[in-house]
Amino acid sequence: MAGNWKMFKTAQQTRDYFQRFLPLVANVSNREIVVCPPFPCLAAAVEASAGSKTGIGGQNVYWVSEGAYTGEVSAPMLVDVGCRWVIVGHSERRQYFHETDDNVRKRTEAALEAGLTPIVCVGETLEQRESGRTGDVLEAQFHGGLRGLNPEQFAALTIAYEPVWAIGTGKTATPEMAEEAHRLIRALAESHYGAPAASSLRILYGGSVKPENCASLMAKADIDGVLVGGASLDPQGFAAIVNC
Ligand code: PGA
Repeated sequence: MAGNWKMFKTAQQTRDYFQRFLPLVANVSNREIVVCPPFPCLAAAVEASAGSKTGIGGQNVYWVSEGAYTGEVSAPMLVDVGCRWVIVGHSERRQYFHETDDNVRKRTEAALEAGLTPIVCVGETLEQRESGRTGDVLEAQFHGGLRGLNPEQFAALTIAYEPVWAIGTGKTATPEMAEEAHRLIRALAESHYGAPAASSLRILYGGSVKPENCASLMAKADIDGVLVGGASLDPQGFAAIVNC
């Protein structure tokens, strides 16, 4: 159950959030919880969540460990600040910052190399869905973003299916639409890495997940968790999702 705060909250707001959030999820035992704040809030988030079951993740990562890359943050730096997770290839990164499948693959590899669990995002736009290309797009993103990973690396990552038209729009994919895409992703995993790897792969759904629609999405066989944007900003709302 992962929250993506995007570009919201200050360090003080981060501390306040965890103070309210952690007691609400203290009894959760069968789900992993992850919160991904903006870079400047990571240290505060790690500190505020220390000793809890909630892990902290970055929202992006560069593929070189260090160097003259102004503005970038590397995987070893995320590990150093206390992150265990990182979102890779979010559609907002692809759309506004021109990230490609090729550099999604480099980011994924760098994250794995550093011991982080990447949450690799895939998903089609409205135009691609309406022209019947959802399957092709997911396949191209799967191949392009994960090409060349060995079985051990593949076993260490998580995939998030996030239809671009459902992100921040209030339009959720129906559980059936999401399940269909998740099944397709699992089939791609099976054809590349075999049935055991496919069945243990965790595939999260993201796109306007709210406390009200979480349970019906989670009820689907191939939906293993959720990646929540807007609704993860409110500690009570995100706790309701985690507990759904
Ligand atoms: P949303 O965002 O829940 O606000 O639609 C999801 C995401 O972008 O990860």
